[in-house]
Order: sequence, then C-alpha cells, then structure tokens
Amino acid sequence: MAKFGSGVSPKPNLLDVRDVCKQFPGVKALDGVEMQVRKGEVHALLGENGAGKSTLLKILSAALRADRGEATLDGVTLEPSETPRERQRAGLVTIYQEFNLLPFMSIAENLYLGCEPERRGFIDWAAMHDNSRALLTSLGLSVDPRRDVRHLSVAHQQMIEIGRAVARQAKLIVMDEPTAALGSREVEILHGVIGGLKARGVSFIYVTHRLDEVKMVCDSFTVLRDGRYVARGEVKAVETSDLVRLMVGRDVEFSKRARTARVGETALAVIGVARARLERPARHCTERSVDRSKGWRDLGVRRLGGRRAHGTGANYFRG
Ligand SMILES: Nc1ncnc2c1ncn2[C@@H]1O[C@H](COP(=O)(O)OP(=O)(O)OP(=O)(O)O)[C@@H](O)[C@H]1O
Ligand SMILES: [Mg+2]
Repeated sequence: MAKFGSGVSPKPNLLDVRDVCKQFPGVKALDGVEMQVRKGEVHALLGENGAGKSTLLKILSAALRADRGEATLDGVTLEPSETPRERQRAGLVTIYQEFNLLPFMSIAENLYLGCEPERRGFIDWAAMHDNSRALLTSLGLSVDPRRDVRHLSVAHQQMIEIGRAVARQAKLIVMDEPTAALGSREVEILHGVIGGLKARGVSFIYVTHRLDEVKMVCDSFTVLRDGRYVARGEVKAVETSDLVRLMVGRDVEFSKRARTARVGETALAVIGVARARLERPARHCTERSVDRSKGWRDLGVRRLGGRRAHGTGANYFRG
C-alpha cells in the first residue's frame, strides 16, 4: 500500500484502526480498512462517493457495528458492544451534518447537556454560564451563552457542537463534511477553531471532498477506494493531483472533467429551479442529485448560483 512522507513522527498515535470490514446487503462497504491518527493532528479521510468514509466514521462512533476489525483510542480498545454515549465518554465525539443541538434551549444548556455542573443536587446555573462563557471565548466566539441556539447561524451552531465536544473533554473530534454548508468566511473561522484545539492536543478526523481544504487544514491523510484502504501519508508530501489519482485510481484530466462538471451543474441548476417552482414548499432535490453534486464539488466546482446549503445534504438546494 502507498505511503507518502516519512511516517516518522514524534507524536504518538491516538487512534489505531486495523482490518475493519463491514458488509451491507449486496455491498462490501469496508474491506480490511486501517487508519492511524496521531495526537494533536487533523487527519483527512478521503475517497470518492461511496468509498466507505461515513461507514467507517459510524463504526468509530458506535452508531454501526463492524463485522470484523479492531480499534484503540489512546491505547484503550474500543469495544464493539459500546454505545455511542460510551464512545463519547471515551473521548471520541462525532459531529454530524444534521446537528444534534436543541434549538429552543440556550447555548449553555446545549454545551453542557447531560453533564451540567451541579451544586447540592441542583444545576449550578451560574457555574454553567461562567464555564460556557470561558469555553466560547476559548473558541473565539463572542456570543451570550443564554441565547437560544435557534438564533445562531449554521456556522455558529457548528461551533457550539465543537464546544460541546470540548466540554466533554473530547480527545478526537470526528467531522463528516463539516464545510458542506458553510461559506468561505465561515470555513476560515472553523479552520481557526480547529487550529486552536489542535494546539491544545485535540485530534480531528476531517472528511471533505474539497481538496484545497485538505492542504489548508490537514496534517495527514488516509485514502479509501471502494471500501479498501489505498494509501496514507503526510499532506505536505503530496500534491492535490496525487490525492485525486489515489481517490479515483487513475490519472484524471482535470480540465476536461471540470468542464463536464460545469455542464452538469448548469443542467442541475435548471432542474433545481424547475422543481422549486413546481413543488413549493417542498423544495428538496433527490439524494441522488446531492451525491452527484458532491462529486462535482470535489473538482472545485462552486455551489449552484450562490444558493446557500443549510443542514443536511437533503436540502442542499434549498432556495
Ligand atoms: N445503511 C446502508 N445500507 C446499505 N448500503 C449502505 C448503507 N450505508 C452505506 N451503504 C453503502 O456502502 C457504501 C459506502 O457508503 P458510505 O456512505 O460509507 O460512503 P462515503 O465514502 O461516505 O460516500 P459519500 O462521499 O457519498 O458520503 C456505498 O456503496 C453505500 O451505498
Ligand atoms: Mg459520506
């Protein structure tokens, strides 16, 4: 298997994944996958649509059980019988695209939900607000922790999710396509927060189809293709074209594919607008077109005519 970069690092491994296999009916989603993430680094998990990235992340967060394989976090075996909550307590926190925040509760309540500071058997609200303020400041956020989460932008809600992971003393924060719904300024803020936490020794697994982000924010990478481990290495040791080649399994003539993608994007824009007109208020596109749009995004194709994606892929084209 290909390895890029020296592989010799002073940082010890935090996560060690070996030989993970997962079969769905008719699909071998993962076949002998391995991955290592060091302490205090951002690790990109890369692969084309359907490569098995989300399946691996779900196994790590205990939302799914692997058929085979093993993983350790900080030297401790992650038992297949564990629940997602137990995995969180072990220090592995996953942030999904559809956030797990409670919109009608305050930022502070969301940050400390399930681990509220107590005093004489009651929630210590003063401590909770003070802790929240300190936590938000450490993430570079100046928002009042007493505000309801529903008033926050998508980017700020994502920060609250990260804050929640920090409040639970996460060692490894897993993010599946965290920037799919963010504008470029918001992506910058997110990367700043990730950089700050990395300096404090927190590790990240970062799934993205935007390879420019890998260069910007990630230290190392693992590439999956059709459920199989293909390569790993140091981001500094590879060019973006190397990553594309590893992901698709052959050289790609970039400009030709980008041109094709643009034609597809235009077609989809027309379909999206037509659907929006015909089907209001249900202005959603199909999962299939979302998947295909993600394929185009990894070629650097921008989003449809300035439309802003919010939340899950299912409402990617919300008008
Ligand atoms: N619950 C499921 N039941 C059946 N097949 C599934 C299920 N979840 C995923 N798969 C299949 O497993 C394979 C890997 O899917 P997965 O979602 O892990 O890919 P991915 O790398 O995250 O792709 P994407 O970049 O599109 O998010 C795909 O062929 C997918 O169709
Ligand atoms: Mg996925």
